Amino acid sequence: MKKNLISLIWGAGGILCMLVLFAFVAPQDQKAGAAWDIPAKYKAMKNPAKGDAASANVGKMLYAKHCKSCHGGTGLGDGPKASSMKTKISSFKDAKFQAQVDGEVYYQAIIGRDEMPAFDKKITEEEDRWAIVNFVRTLK
Ligand code: HEC
Repeated sequence: MKKNLISLIWGAGGILCMLVLFAFVAPQDQKAGAAWDIPAKYKAMKNPAKGDAASANVGKMLYAKHCKSCHGGTGLGDGPKASSMKTKISSFKDAKFQAQVDGEVYYQAIIGRDEMPAFDKKITEEEDRWAIVNFVRTLK
């Protein structure tokens, strides 16, 4: 009887240890982001400064301020905060990423989801939002 109780305590202790271990180990196991579900309204948006170098330059400054810490200087998804994310940050150099229309990139960058922060309250000017999209385009 006593023996059973001891093994029960050991068993419970073992499970507890595993749970604690999981809690520390799991966050480093980043999951890949699922496909984005982007509303048609955004997909249809027209970039008013498409391919404009001056706009991309403004975007570069905004990117350094708001995005670089996670996405990295060259958009590889290797900024200092990237490893603490539960979701893996993919590279802006990825052909599949760059194959998206500008409105899709705008939605991801400004509206965001989950760990990708929303920037609509921080970057309020449409001009600045498209500037960031234009800069991200230069990272391919
Ligand atoms: C706190 C870290 C963090 C910051 C700051 C951040 N991002 Fe992100 N971003 C993420 C994460 C994490 C994802 C992946 C999210 C997902 O798939 O659910 C992501 C995804 C994206 C994507 C979609 C890429 C893809 O392949 O799925 C774009 C575009 C993007 N971010 C642009 C930006 C821009 C532009 C800024 C600055 C205005 C920015 N991000 C700032 C963490 C960040």
